[in-house]
Amino acid sequence: MKVEEKQFDLEYINKYASQMTIGNGFFGIRGSQEEDYRNQVRGMFAAGVYNRPLGAESAELVNLPDVIRWEIKIDGEHFSLETMKVLAYERALDLEMGELKRYALIETAQGKKVEVITCRVADQNNLHQAALKVVIKPLTEDCQVDVKTGIDGQQTNFGTQQLVEKELRVFGDDLISASYQTTESKIDIGIAAKFNKAGVFQAKNRRITASFSEKIRKNTSFTLEKIIVLSTSLQQTDPFKKSIAQAQKSVSYTEILEQSMSYWTDFWHQHRITIQGDSSFDQLAMDFAAYHLQIMTPRNDPSVSVGAKGLTGEGYKGHVFWDTEIFILPFFLYQFPEVAKNLLLYRYDRLEGARQKARDYHYQGALFPWESAHTGQEETPKFAALNIKTGTRQEVASAAAEHHISADLAYAVQEYVQATEDQSFLETKGKTLIHETAAFWLSRAVKVDDHLEIHRVIGPDEYTEYIDNNAYTNYLAHYNVALAVKYQAGDPLFLKECQNFLDKLYLPVPNKEQLIPQDDTYLSKPVIDLTTYKERPGSQSILLDYARSEVNELQVSKQADLVMLLYLLPEYFSQPIVSKNLHYYENKTIHDSSLSKAIHAIEACRIQEMEWAYHLFQEACLIDLGPDPHSSDDGIHAASLGALWLAVIFGFSGITVTNGTLSISPRLPSAWEKISFPFIWKNHRLLFVLTKKQIVIKKETKETLPIFVNGDQYQLEKELKIGRASCRER
Ligand code: BGC
Repeated sequence: MKVEEKQFDLEYINKYASQMTIGNGFFGIRGSQEEDYRNQVRGMFAAGVYNRPLGAESAELVNLPDVIRWEIKIDGEHFSLETMKVLAYERALDLEMGELKRYALIETAQGKKVEVITCRVADQNNLHQAALKVVIKPLTEDCQVDVKTGIDGQQTNFGTQQLVEKELRVFGDDLISASYQTTESKIDIGIAAKFNKAGVFQAKNRRITASFSEKIRKNTSFTLEKIIVLSTSLQQTDPFKKSIAQAQKSVSYTEILEQSMSYWTDFWHQHRITIQGDSSFDQLAMDFAAYHLQIMTPRNDPSVSVGAKGLTGEGYKGHVFWDTEIFILPFFLYQFPEVAKNLLLYRYDRLEGARQKARDYHYQGALFPWESAHTGQEETPKFAALNIKTGTRQEVASAAAEHHISADLAYAVQEYVQATEDQSFLETKGKTLIHETAAFWLSRAVKVDDHLEIHRVIGPDEYTEYIDNNAYTNYLAHYNVALAVKYQAGDPLFLKECQNFLDKLYLPVPNKEQLIPQDDTYLSKPVIDLTTYKERPGSQSILLDYARSEVNELQVSKQADLVMLLYLLPEYFSQPIVSKNLHYYENKTIHDSSLSKAIHAIEACRIQEMEWAYHLFQEACLIDLGPDPHSSDDGIHAASLGALWLAVIFGFSGITVTNGTLSISPRLPSAWEKISFPFIWKNHRLLFVLTKKQIVIKKETKETLPIFVNGDQYQLEKELKIGRASCRER
């Protein structure tokens, strides 16, 4: 279980940096190389540390001061993988240990062979801590080693400075520290670094550094450890003092590594999807997804959520989208239900911003921001990048029209309540979220003759803007309002209005060709050949040939839209309808968003087109792990990784959760022999082991649990073993 880089290649430097991030849900440190290289983007991010720099229209996840740079000199020669003769190189993020380790054997200009090993690991107990180490060993002759490292406040977000340096302090001869404040959000940041040996300090130009020099004998090692502590005023008062006090405790690299190993061992034991099959890549992709889901998500902090790139890069400015509730939250719901609850609390605590946004647009209730950061106000930039030829800017319409997010949140509340039966959450928070979002939809619909419609929206497919009656939006809005009625979330008058909405809202149904129109006009637009664009999914290459306004007038989808609806509300649509629509719409979908392929894979499973499903799944695995050198430069695709988990659970394993019941109906692709995974359902920890011949479900708790397997109901006590032909309880 390792993500490996076999050779150093500048072209891939930022992709690996994103992939090889270490972290713990509180912070993430990109897997950048220790030395500086052209175009390398370093990054350390802490959940919830956003700032709106002067003149900027939205808040950004702050790229914190750099702590991982080692400037190494061997006999005065700069250590560099670019300029030195590299005899051997290998770098790997070990998912079982949570450690990133690089091995390089180089030859200096004088012909000396020297091993340089660098490694780093995030603390999984004390979430404020990380450990770094460098080991330098001359193999052929003695040499002089000089190493300089520190805390570098020159780090910016693509050039934008977010922090003011407040204080720099050193303690004894082995501890340096720095304190900063974000320029607008006024978050205090304290960073301390403790070394295992005495250094010479210097503070200059917002950098505080420690230098170490030693003459190293042949076949002996120079070992330098650096323990980093990061504190912020979001969690602690006086983070500067806290970081220093913690750093003074002098833990070793090995201690932090050992507890990281024990944390990850337990994690994999408790939460891993195991796949036995033809290709070990599938297992790696699932482990990679679970690792990243785990390090991107705050473990016990409801005040923060997950950005579209987790804590792995500056992409999307660290903003929180529907990605979190629809693509990421389910992993936590069925593995760590408390974390799923926290993600909902993040939204609940920002209801005021959503109410304000609804008011700003003259609606009722709560309209959640399409992009959210710390305050809960809308953070979507108003304009996309400047067109340098025309000097004009394309409006980003999502804030104004991508309203399905409010229904998506209500949907996630229902998923949570259904899977946990957490009545207290439902009563105290869930009903309010459902009520406020339902109230929004009541005010959002317009009367047309004797029925209601929803006009001028953007559905999940962001290539079609300001369309009427997007099927996804209408169905989800209907579902949202139905939840208000189900849970009686409101007074009788409100519930009456809800009932009227449910009776009158237009829900697009299959036409005579069995197609559900994605919106009122989609099916009447021209169809073009998408072959070349589909060959480069994610690149948005169609926008090089067509203006956005032209794409809007074609049957071209950026991502799963109607198919997203089929996925979220499986009980509404029969298999033949799924089949017809999946084929039709997949053909029109470029998959220019990473939120697309894995969802299509799930629906392909549903219609038993297993080879197609498996193909789509494998392509989804390649979004972050594939050969494209730049696909993940500014961070991994958080929702896509969540969707891989969804694909195995809800696609290949055929799990469905509807109306409070759990069903399973597996359909493994031919490449897989067996899959097994844990699943928490209504406080029961279930273990599923699925092969083509048998379904085994185990449970540790005593009470009987009803479960549907391949359509038949069973009462699960300790274990159910169901063969293909005979289905018996043991
Ligand atoms: C997609 C959205 C998604 C966002 C963040 C966009 O490209 O169209 O659906 O929420 O990326 O991942």
